[in-house]
Amino acid sequence: MQSLFSSRITKLDDALSNQIAAGEVVERPSAALKELVENSLDAGATTLRVSIREGGVKLLEVVDDGHGIHPEDLRLALDRHATSKIRETKDLFAIHTWGFRGEALASIGAVSRLKLSSRHKDFPVGREIVCEATQLKDAKEITRTVGTTIEVSELFFNTPARRKFLKSQASETSACAQTLHRLALASPEVSFEFWIDGKKSFHFPAVKKTEERVAQVFREAFNLEIGVEELIPFSKNKPDASVHGFLLPTKYFIPSSRGIFLFVNKRSVKDKVLQQAVMTAAKEVLFGSAYPQLALYLETSPESVDVNVHPTKSEVRFRNSSQIFGLIRSTVEEALAKTRPAMPEDISFPSPSTPMAAPSFSFEAPTHFHQKADIEQEVLSPPALARGPQFLGTLKNTYLVCQDDEGLLLVDQHAAHERVSYEKLRKQRLARTESAQLLIPIIVEVPERSADLLEAELGKLSDLGLELDRSGPTQISVRAIPPLLLRGDGTPRISFSKLVKELAATMEHENAPDIVADEVKKVMLDGLASESCHGSVRAGKSLSPMEAHHLLAQMDQTDFAGHCPHGRPTTLRLDWRDIEKMFKRIV
Ligand SMILES: Nc1ncnc2c1ncn2[C@@H]1O[C@H](COP(=O)(O)OP(=O)(O)OP(=O)(O)O)[C@@H](O)[C@H]1O
Ligand SMILES: [Mg+2]
Repeated sequence: MQSLFSSRITKLDDALSNQIAAGEVVERPSAALKELVENSLDAGATTLRVSIREGGVKLLEVVDDGHGIHPEDLRLALDRHATSKIRETKDLFAIHTWGFRGEALASIGAVSRLKLSSRHKDFPVGREIVCEATQLKDAKEITRTVGTTIEVSELFFNTPARRKFLKSQASETSACAQTLHRLALASPEVSFEFWIDGKKSFHFPAVKKTEERVAQVFREAFNLEIGVEELIPFSKNKPDASVHGFLLPTKYFIPSSRGIFLFVNKRSVKDKVLQQAVMTAAKEVLFGSAYPQLALYLETSPESVDVNVHPTKSEVRFRNSSQIFGLIRSTVEEALAKTRPAMPEDISFPSPSTPMAAPSFSFEAPTHFHQKADIEQEVLSPPALARGPQFLGTLKNTYLVCQDDEGLLLVDQHAAHERVSYEKLRKQRLARTESAQLLIPIIVEVPERSADLLEAELGKLSDLGLELDRSGPTQISVRAIPPLLLRGDGTPRISFSKLVKELAATMEHENAPDIVADEVKKVMLDGLASESCHGSVRAGKSLSPMEAHHLLAQMDQTDFAGHCPHGRPTTLRLDWRDIEKMFKRIV
């Protein structure tokens, strides 16, 4: 094909190469906004005011009270590869600031009209420059407070193609808001104010504790009335990484991953390893019925994570990604175990002589239940009765009616029993490595390279009871399987040759052994769920008060008691306050 251009090579001029780079860093207004706010945070700002107009395309403005820019550096700040944050290569492997590439402002400046005004903390006056598509227009001295103001107007005015790719004004606005939510979650000590088209959208005052910011952001982003005290904290430390964060109670869960906020060394990231670790943990508990909502902060030494993978720095690469995967997954799983929406943690079972004090009126239990329960309480072991709500009676042979300090509860006896048996089975079976030897091994053909990779990971699978062997250059044989992969009648729940082929196919993936182990576990858990379902009390079967007491006490000791293994709720709760409101005793 004949080229329109000559075949000689020429160097692109600065303006054009800045525009090309801008395509990577500032693909849309929210990306430019992220860069501006990160610069303010790097300058030690404690108060930020962000304003946008028309989705950020007309205007993006960030006003900060940081240390400002030296008057002689103002022009330099807009130059490519000009930065005050790193000086030599070794700094690149230990980044402590949000920015370090020295190209954000140059990129934004190349595709907008930009006004930069700043007063450095050591100077009595400030300076302002105006720049239009990298052409410096104006520079003058001005009076202003210490700090920096950047106004970016007419974003992409000189790159109409880029402008065409923007979404609706509403979605660009919401992308800007989401970007600020993430930045705010990473810097609770900074006050964030956000204005959209001249109207104040939100204000997060500076707070001392991360959980206070988490509550502020979730209240704003998802319109929830959640209090700090409702958040479930979690944390775990390992020698080379630690993780902490806050999980929302299950009643606030929404069917979207928008409420999963992940941070690595405070940087908000979209990382597959982390995301998958959270979802894997959630799947075991919630069975895909909902996504967990949480803010999770991973801290690891800057040397063990590379943030210089992508121009927007939202992707990271870990040196030890499978350890990170395991750490996040187990931490989130333990946090989810603490979410028992319907069961308050520290209620003691009322003894017959001291009836539970209900707030302003009491709920009388049918006397025959009381009497029977009194006799039988003596035979129940003390720990089983130590906790749990008070059983009052059964409706339609299906729902247990109970009360506790906070209100009235209806418990679906089948769903509750299912969860109790499921957790028991899960703990027993997953803890033990059982495997059933096959009389005749199943031989599966796979590509040689996959067989090599798979061979190296066989130990992980045999921990789960799945014993595979390399039986030829392109052959893997299945010798023993975990009994949980068999149905009650001994037929397999899955096709083993398909499983091995899938294992082989995922081997190239970085976390292959974990993904594979998870897949095997999931099939086993599905099996458990149906086993515990069949073994559980049916709705419609009447339980004796003692059986009911016992079930309630067990529930209180069981992880994930709020939902059955299929994701249905086990308990409905009506707080005394709500009841009183309904009867108009209070307003
Ligand atoms: N709000 C601000 N307050 C103080 N200095 C600023 C501010 N914004 C930019 N600067 C200065 O301008 C320089 C260039 O900013 P720019 O965002 O282009 O690069 P960077 O932050 O160093 O790296 P990156 O491209 O990774 O963001 C910064 O290194 C900093 O010295
Ligand atoms: Mg920057």
